[in-house]
Amino acid sequence: MNKLRNTFLTGYVTLFLIVLNTCYAIGQTAMINTQSRNTKSLNGDWQVIIDPGGGGDWRQVWLEKKPQKKTDFIEYSFDGGPMLKVPGDFNSQRCELTYVEGTVWYKKQFKSTLKSNKRLFLHFGAVNYLAEVYLNGEKIGSHEGGFTPFQFEITNKVKEGENTVIVKANNNRMGNGLPGYGFDWFNYGGITREVDLIETNNTYIYDYSIQLKKGSLNEVLGWVHLDGTQPEQNIEINIPELNFKYKTRSDETGLAKIDFSSAFELWSPENPKRYKVNIESETDIVTDNIGFRSIEVMGNKVLLNGSPIFLKAVNIHEENPYKGSRAYSIDDAKILLNAAKELGCNLVRLAHYPHAENMVREAEKMGLMVWDEIPVYQHIQFADSLVPQKLETMMREMVSRDKNRCGVVIWSLSNETYPGTPNRNEALIELTQKCRALDSTRLIVHVINTQGYNNNTFKVWDPLYNYSDLVALNEYIGWYIPWQGNPSETQWNVEFPDKPVFISEFGGEALYGSKGPTDEAAYWTEEYQENIYKDQIEMFNTIPNLSGVCPWLLFDYRSLGRMNQLYQNGYNRKGLLSENGEKKKAWYVMNEYFNEK
Ligand code: GCU
Repeated sequence: MNKLRNTFLTGYVTLFLIVLNTCYAIGQTAMINTQSRNTKSLNGDWQVIIDPGGGGDWRQVWLEKKPQKKTDFIEYSFDGGPMLKVPGDFNSQRCELTYVEGTVWYKKQFKSTLKSNKRLFLHFGAVNYLAEVYLNGEKIGSHEGGFTPFQFEITNKVKEGENTVIVKANNNRMGNGLPGYGFDWFNYGGITREVDLIETNNTYIYDYSIQLKKGSLNEVLGWVHLDGTQPEQNIEINIPELNFKYKTRSDETGLAKIDFSSAFELWSPENPKRYKVNIESETDIVTDNIGFRSIEVMGNKVLLNGSPIFLKAVNIHEENPYKGSRAYSIDDAKILLNAAKELGCNLVRLAHYPHAENMVREAEKMGLMVWDEIPVYQHIQFADSLVPQKLETMMREMVSRDKNRCGVVIWSLSNETYPGTPNRNEALIELTQKCRALDSTRLIVHVINTQGYNNNTFKVWDPLYNYSDLVALNEYIGWYIPWQGNPSETQWNVEFPDKPVFISEFGGEALYGSKGPTDEAAYWTEEYQENIYKDQIEMFNTIPNLSGVCPWLLFDYRSLGRMNQLYQNGYNRKGLLSENGEKKKAWYVMNEYFNEK
């Protein structure tokens, strides 16, 4: 009996330690502002094993077994295989990977000489969709979610000299994933963003939040969080340009609250002012470029720095249009953001997932406000027991990474989910409350497309609008739904008449240069799309409390479901620009509207 009991106890304890280690690895939100840390980049060529059949798991390729006896042979090897560039999706790098939704195993070796008073972290900008990470043959953790950073501490696992990282990257769709099975963008898989080794002192500045207090134009409310063996330290925030110093001290948990005031030149699209801010402890220093601005809703208006602003926005997917690949670099960001600026925008909706940090930082630098969104997209299995935690984890990872980016003015927590879905309202209301508890300084929204359009009347309603700072809605009148009357005579019946209304998507498709009857949708003509935009703009004048509009979308982009081989060829053609950057006629209609606003 004792033997059985001991066996049970051993098994239970082992299971508990595995869960703890995995949870810890999954649960550790990545440190922020990696560009200000002591990093060694692992970007570049990685060896890969392409494994669409999933055999790598049972062969345990991460062990990299070698023949021991003359009769031994091993039926896998990274040697002799192809290389892939990291960062970068794997689909666009090799012809045989174009449509793969499955597993690619990545391998990279690095040398380490870690001193005793230092710590070492392995940091990923993103891996889509599931990542399992092994160091020297030992699993160090896993991460789910294709668009947010994660890290693992490897201080006590790294070897002196040569080390090997192996990453299983899998972009199979998951029914209870975020997103779920269906989504209207290309499912780029792989190690899509940067990978860095980050070395820190034993106690380092793990995290910090430095932004204006909600509703204030001069008071900063925030915190600094140290992690390590010396949590109680003197902390200093200094802003050299303002000749400003603020001193405080962290407590036994490493936390130091911040509360100071200063006269800031406020960030705005016209003047995207940011300050060099040094965050110093006794054992670490981190420098960030931080802007200070206020965003709030007052009645039926959106206020930036206390003044009403009309949000002239555009939707952008994270795709380099010229390469047909996942965007990740500063150059990619500049292509997309310069096009948004040229259109006349002051905000970019980064659909439908957190884009690379490069994109968020470049937008802020260029004076473009950012709408940051998690891929809670259409059909989500809210009643699945794992989904609420996934929702919260992804929201926390997005907020954690971008919370010091003043350019980010909106956290968007869902797009086109459906009120009747089991547990959808409960899960998203709880998520909204958790997000607001985490960051009360930004707008929080849910995007709905369940409005009813009958007899040229819009009925806009949804339980989530009780919790959303904007009445954000997607509508495709003129494309998916024909007009039922004169656009200028549209009636609106908006539940929550006292909230700002934001048209977060509208538009229609056109193939640049397509010829055909301009009054028939089936020819994908520019003129048909142009007329949709003209009619939509006419209708905008009928919308009460309209606080902004956001056409879908900036560039034509890849989406497998777009299979009309005369006009789409695997592209969603709602772009105002073709994938070659050619301006369609509708571009000029939108540009004129924004310039007149
Ligand atoms: C939806 C959805 C987009 C999609 C668009 C379309 O509103 O939010 O992701 O691409 O419609 O059908 O083109």
